[in-house]
Amino acid sequence: MEESIFRSELMEWYQTSQRSLPWREAPNAYSCWLSEIILQQTRVAQGAPYYARFLETYPTVQDLADAPEEEVMRLWQGLGYYSRARNLHKCAKTVSHEMNNTFPSTYAGLQKLPGIGKYTAAAIASIVFNEAVPAVDGNMYRVFARYFGIQTDIASPKAFKEFFELGATIIDSGKPGDFNQAVMDLGATVCTPKKPLCDTCPLASGCHALAKGSQGDLPVKKKK
Ligand code: ADE
Repeated sequence: MEESIFRSELMEWYQTSQRSLPWREAPNAYSCWLSEIILQQTRVAQGAPYYARFLETYPTVQDLADAPEEEVMRLWQGLGYYSRARNLHKCAKTVSHEMNNTFPSTYAGLQKLPGIGKYTAAAIASIVFNEAVPAVDGNMYRVFARYFGIQTDIASPKAFKEFFELGATIIDSGKPGDFNQAVMDLGATVCTPKKPLCDTCPLASGCHALAKGSQGDLPVKKKK
């Protein structure tokens, strides 16, 4: 089946081609959460120094929770979307004060925290707790739409469910965190929005878009 070919080729590629990124070394719920909040709407190269500074300044969720708001905002300076920083602090306080400094360990539980939506909950649940949930982000929309030739408008309300369900059938349930991060890496380094590097793509032989030459048309995203 094309789903199992996708999974095995992608996972094999990730073994040799994954990016070595600071938050991939011994992730715990706190460090993974911190990296995912910082990386929302932010490129890896821009986010990495912020991740290092936050982790150095606040080694634990309690340290972050106890920090003065102005200090947290100052450390965030330059990243933009300042509501993310306020939610970051709010979430740390909730985990520290109401959860005994322990993050929830499930996809459902994580989504109850401020600033944690479906994508971030799936990333943490899969990477840290090995829960087999797909982290549907722009990379997953693009890689799946191209490989499987999905024409659904990714801005439409039904798109999330369709891609989530497809992801749930493809995800490597033994290594769900690696699977999600492999899709991110492929999307960031090979299956890029413009000029994808199909010559070096591990999924080239089964890719619908490559066969049709429709990489530039997928994913479909209609203006609202
Ligand atoms: N972007 C957001 N989360 C990421 C991760 N865990 N690895 C690489 N890029 C990311």
